[in-house]
Amino acid sequence: MDPDQLFATVPIAAVRNFWDARPCNIRHSTKEVGTREYFDEVEQRKYFVEPHIPRFAEFPRWAGRTVLEIGCGIGTDTINFARHGAQVTAIELSERSAALARRRADVYGLTDRITIHVGNAEELPDILPVRPFDLVYSFGVIHHSPQPWRIAAHLRRYMTAASELRLMVYSRVSYKLFRIMREENAWDMSRIDELLARNSEAQVGSPVTYTYTDASLRQLLDGYRVLERRKAHIFTWDVDAYRRYEYRKAPEWANVSSAELADLETELGWHLLVRAVLS
Ligand SMILES: C[S@@+](CC[C@H](N)C(=O)[O-])C[C@H]1O[C@@H](n2cnc3c(N)ncnc32)[C@H](O)[C@@H]1O
Repeated sequence: MDPDQLFATVPIAAVRNFWDARPCNIRHSTKEVGTREYFDEVEQRKYFVEPHIPRFAEFPRWAGRTVLEIGCGIGTDTINFARHGAQVTAIELSERSAALARRRADVYGLTDRITIHVGNAEELPDILPVRPFDLVYSFGVIHHSPQPWRIAAHLRRYMTAASELRLMVYSRVSYKLFRIMREENAWDMSRIDELLARNSEAQVGSPVTYTYTDASLRQLLDGYRVLERRKAHIFTWDVDAYRRYEYRKAPEWANVSSAELADLETELGWHLLVRAVLS
């Protein structure tokens, strides 16, 4: 089976159930879910372990402009676009995630800058009438949808020649793959897609996780002109300590300098960061 269509027949309900059961980053804080302290800690932890996100999103750049976010999860980036003055419209498949993102907008007094629709971005024009946005942003989302190419095609209609797409999808050739193969002691290279999908998230068993190479990314972004494409993010923390909210480097990373890590991230990062415009 073509690895780029491996999950095409997975029902969207399976994806929705997975993210409803455990919304992305919901355990990033131990404070009471839905409180300001909780959301503050979620953001702190997220941008501490993934510092490339604010650099990639460039939140202040979109002040006074319109942002369409696909798959906002519990809304960490959503809030930051709005906090910096953007008008954000978000689509989220998981009702439970969307409810938390809405609650978050309320907690920070940003409801007038954030509109969240619950729905499947593969059916985007049925959810949101077509109109142009300055930025179309989607971080770590469309690779979890059974037919991500449908989303990529819809998004073009929400852009003009002046709009930009900023997208993160997972990278197939990554340190994450090495780590999973080591942990599972599974070295059969024909099992790459299955191994990555099952272990891609904090909770095992994601029903859909595609990963991309340069070639498959080009195919996905048919009709776009890629301005920049780079890899980022290797998770270097000791996982057991991390689960206890402690930060200690895993032994294999303890002797690696930040400059060496930065080099390795450009070759083996798990996050493929893409900036594109209409072609
Ligand atoms: C890994 S989380 C990322 C959430 C958020 N972008 C972030 O960075 O915190 C993936 C999110 O994509 C959403 N998602 C997956 N497929 C979707 C689809 N077809 N339409 C809308 N949202 C989708 C999931 O419900 C989940 O909240």
